Amino acid sequence: MQALLNDIDRNGWGMMLGGCEQGESIRLRNECEKACQEGDFKQAGVGRAERLKIDSEIRKDQILWLLSGPLFPEQEAYQVKLDLLRLALNQRFILGLFDFEGHFALYPEGGFYKPHLDCHGGSNRRVMTVILYLNENWKSGDGGELKLWTTCGKKEGSFVLIEPRIGTLVCFPSADYWHEVLPTVNSRMSITGWFRQRQI
Ligand code: OGA
Ligand code: MN
Repeated sequence: MQALLNDIDRNGWGMMLGGCEQGESIRLRNECEKACQEGDFKQAGVGRAERLKIDSEIRKDQILWLLSGPLFPEQEAYQVKLDLLRLALNQRFILGLFDFEGHFALYPEGGFYKPHLDCHGGSNRRVMTVILYLNENWKSGDGGELKLWTTCGKKEGSFVLIEPRIGTLVCFPSADYWHEVLPTVNSRMSITGWFRQRQI
């Protein structure tokens, strides 16, 4: 975790291979697959509440919000882990991150999410985005890389392509780093979430 914090300190964003250990990632992946088979996922939208619209021009994926409780042990275990990261980020960068919201995301073949920032107009409590990938046999050609522009606030210039391999964790400031999910050739699973500040 220290290496991730050092990256964020140095570059403004961070990535960690094996950010979640293999066994735990596989259990999360299984829980995600099971929920999907049971039809628990919903088409993802853009925007919030009354302004939420399903816009298949902007994104094509399905989501399921993370839950806590005995029926969802793996989701809860991951949230406990994230809480340690939240506290570490607060300690290192004095961020005042207050809580977390997140969801499983499933991109079908031909899924994508066009370039965007993770903030909703108006009230924006999302401060840091954290994504964990769950694709065990991801290989080059499967698509669905995360394209992250590495200049704060800019959707041009240098970028990285992050392969959505199981256990890889990415973390960046939600309102400042433009990013995009490149079209998927094979379906792709992840958990995307946000550390939030308290409503002001
Ligand atoms: C998002 C998002 C990126 C990814 O859900 O806002 O940008 O790689 N996800 O899943
Ligand atoms: Mn995003």
